Amino acid sequence: MVRLLLGTIFSGLLMTIQPASAQDVNQAVKQIEAAIHLTPDVDNGRRVYMLCAVCHLPEGSGTGDGYYPQVAGQHAKVIIKQLADIMARNRDTPTMVPFALLQNLRPQEFADVAAYLARQPMTSQNGLGPGTDLEHGKFLYEKNCVDCHGRKGEGNEEEYMPLIQGQHYNYLVRQFEWIRDGKRRNADEKMVKQIQGFNERDISAVMDYTSRLKPPAERLAAPGWRNPDFPDFVR
Ligand code: HEC
Ligand code: HEC
Repeated sequence: MVRLLLGTIFSGLLMTIQPASAQDVNQAVKQIEAAIHLTPDVDNGRRVYMLCAVCHLPEGSGTGDGYYPQVAGQHAKVIIKQLADIMARNRDTPTMVPFALLQNLRPQEFADVAAYLARQPMTSQNGLGPGTDLEHGKFLYEKNCVDCHGRKGEGNEEEYMPLIQGQHYNYLVRQFEWIRDGKRRNADEKMVKQIQGFNERDISAVMDYTSRLKPPAERLAAPGWRNPDFPDFVR
């Protein structure tokens, strides 16, 4: 309650913490349904992605501090669902910009940018945790997460289960806590229930382990790779 209140006061320009209304969820569901059945135009996806590269970087790698998630290599359907949830404000983000930005995109553009990102190679240099409690992390991961996210964190596109392998540690921790605390208001109810008992040590350990699950070699970009689709990007 205190946390909720403080969150509400300090969120300033950000949203207040509220359960998703039926309307928000419906809006997201409609957007998802419309987008997943369209044939994506990957080249247009590249053009749409210009709007996103300023935060997620041209490589889609996000930032090692986990402020911006890696979006390269994610399943297209997962990207579409997350964009729809952000647009419908079922998810908070640390910055207001994505809400405004996404309001202007049509389902076709969701499909296009998702297809573009799903094809991008992933960074091999994602942010990792402290590396001190990995056995505990492995134990927790194999017991609690494998059924849905897969042994290697590869996710499951058909079921909208995100790929979480090779994601930045700080981002994983933040999302895990936000899912547990109901701040992702259209998340997976089973997962929310399952992780209620996780303490700080557990979360750090399991996310550290997850951040070190490597995508297959052919899905990884070479270290220092620059996306040639954005030659003029100013860093
Ligand atoms: C102003 C910066 C900014 C811009 C521009 C932006 N994003 Fe994001 N995006 C974020 C942040 C920050 C998050 C993480 C939100 C959180 O912590 O919940 C995020 C989250 C996401 C996620 C969810 C990732 C996951 O694993 O759950 C996707 C997908 C995404 N963005 C795609 C896009 C696309 C596509 C665009 C362009 C149309 C875009 N973003 C534009 C900042 C931005
Ligand atoms: C019952 C299935 C299920 C289980 C079990 C489960 N998850 Fe999830 N998880 C999901 C789904 C579905 C999502 C996407 C939620 C959404 O759409 O917002 C998700 C989202 C996530 C995310 C956010 C990913 C992103 O890119 O935004 C993280 C991190 C995560 N899960 C970690 C875990 C870990 C670690 C465990 C084990 C302790 C776990 N999950 C167990 C189904 C599950």
